[in-house]
Amino acid sequence: MRHVISVHDFSTAEIVDVLDRAEDMVPIARGEASSDLLKGKILACIFFEPSTRTRLSFETAMIRLGGGVIGFAGTEATSVVKGETLADTTRMVSGYADAVVLRHPREGAAKLATEFSSVPVLNAGDGAGQHPTQTLLDLFTIRTETGRLEGLNISMVGDLRYGRTVHSLAIALAKFGNTINLVAPEGLEMPGEVTSYLKSMGRLGTICRSPEDVISSTDILYTTRIQKERFPDLVEYERVAGMYRVDPDLLSRGPQSLIVMHPLPRVNEIAPEVDVMPQAKYFEQAFNGVPVRMALLSMVMGGE
Ligand code: NCD
Repeated sequence: MRHVISVHDFSTAEIVDVLDRAEDMVPIARGEASSDLLKGKILACIFFEPSTRTRLSFETAMIRLGGGVIGFAGTEATSVVKGETLADTTRMVSGYADAVVLRHPREGAAKLATEFSSVPVLNAGDGAGQHPTQTLLDLFTIRTETGRLEGLNISMVGDLRYGRTVHSLAIALAKFGNTINLVAPEGLEMPGEVTSYLKSMGRLGTICRSPEDVISSTDILYTTRIQKERFPDLVEYERVAGMYRVDPDLLSRGPQSLIVMHPLPRVNEIAPEVDVMPQAKYFEQAFNGVPVRMALLSMVMGGE
């Protein structure tokens, strides 16, 4: 049984395999071809935290492959409000479905769920932990847009402390032999365990406070939202909110081939004028969630 909990669960060869499968899925994801690969299978999407792209792209992926979807988005109408534990919810839902996609505010929740699930669990974000399926769609986007997965200079900008997407992505990019620059305000730096991993791989680039310092040598500017919901103190949030903004002026100082990515939702990190610039790839990135999650679902549910 194959769970998808952390990016460490994948070798580079396995990641490339997922991306290759995802490429084959694109026509089905676009609705130009049809498939019944997962006909008769059921996916449970249980989301204890807000989500738009992750949940809807998982559901779209499942439906495009001929399967069905159950689940909840928010716990208000579930037994969680009666005090049901994650262990019990998982045990029971795994009896209704062939795979479970879980998003939860607690770090380690997805790993815990694997102990109680009788079917594969896919981590759709565990607090400030990891977001491995986002990482796979980010890598798919990078490969599609630049034609490669190695030898790139990636600058991660924003809330590197609480932003789970950058935790998983930095690790995966290091495995493929890319250099990662870390640009964060004071107090929102990348956690020590990720930085140490990058260092041990010889892949840690520049650590700085301003994107201006790295823009001229950046191939990929990976921008993130300040994760307001994870701040113990909102005064702290106000201090850093709006600190970074990617705009045409900043981009004019980077290479012409530079691309801008963002897992979305964005708040103020990217000026709307950037949306129409050739560098903007975040909406393509959001679409890529569908073929990549189709590839993953077909792998874990064995609908070969
Ligand atoms: C991200 C998340 O939930 O971690 N969103 C997503 O899944 N695309 C990023 C965010 O919420 O800022």
